[in-house]
Amino acid sequence: MEYKVEITVCLGSSCFSRKNRDIVSVLQEFIANNKLDSEVYLKGGHCFGKCSLGPIMIVNEDMYSDISPSKAVAIVKSYLNS
Ligand code: FES
Repeated sequence: MEYKVEITVCLGSSCFSRKNRDIVSVLQEFIANNKLDSEVYLKGGHCFGKCSLGPIMIVNEDMYSDISPSKAVAIVKSYLNS
């Protein structure tokens, strides 16, 4: 199946210590509350080598750094609306 938005949150140890888990749970909640599971695919990834800029999130082909839960949701919304 083709997803409109494919998100990979870095689950490496540095991003972990920068609270990537909060980002994952907020995104899971956002997807569930808005019934987006056929449009948005959320997965975890290994370290992307940008640890000092973490937490890192990839959306489709684009990399975002220094992500917070609210930033993550705003970014995903912008892809859904494009
Ligand atoms: S641990 Fe996330 S980029 Fe390295």
